[in-house]
Amino acid sequence: MLDFIMEDEFTLIMIKPDAVKRGHTGAILKRIEEEGFRIRGMKYVSLTKAQAEMFYIVHKERPFFGELTQFMASGFIVAAVLERTNAVAHWRKVIGATDPAEAEDGTIRKLFAASKGENAVHGSDSRENAKLETSFFFNALELV
Ligand code: RTP
Ligand code: MG
Repeated sequence: MLDFIMEDEFTLIMIKPDAVKRGHTGAILKRIEEEGFRIRGMKYVSLTKAQAEMFYIVHKERPFFGELTQFMASGFIVAAVLERTNAVAHWRKVIGATDPAEAEDGTIRKLFAASKGENAVHGSDSRENAKLETSFFFNALELV
């Protein structure tokens, strides 16, 4: 169903509950525009614990799985599909390392994340996962 956007390079991002609660949504959306991404779809939602577990199913054996999914279900999030040349890699560069203590200056996690667990934003780690994660949040009618 989502093949029509597969020709373009895109990634699925989330602004996580910690960043939304602290009022960083606007600054992060501004950064998205400044980095030259086109927003192809966007929604403001909250996940149930079960939905968060579905999204992060690849991490189900990891020790932080319970904490992660509880956190992701703890408040509103923004999910968006962003298009740009080299979208997956560029967004991961813009957000910085998983742990803000290790993130480079100027990255979103360095600027806005409080900890390794509550780290402000998500980005797909491959084109294949960008497609899977996009289909988790969006149907064809919700993408432009
Ligand atoms: P994300 O998937 O959210 O973009 O983050 P990532 O690729 O940088 O990191 P990943 O290894 O995929 O981990 C997913 C999310 O799990 C939480 N986490 N907590 N407490 C911990 O040691 C720990 N490790 C990972 C983070 O919220 C991380 O973004
Ligand atoms: Mg990841």
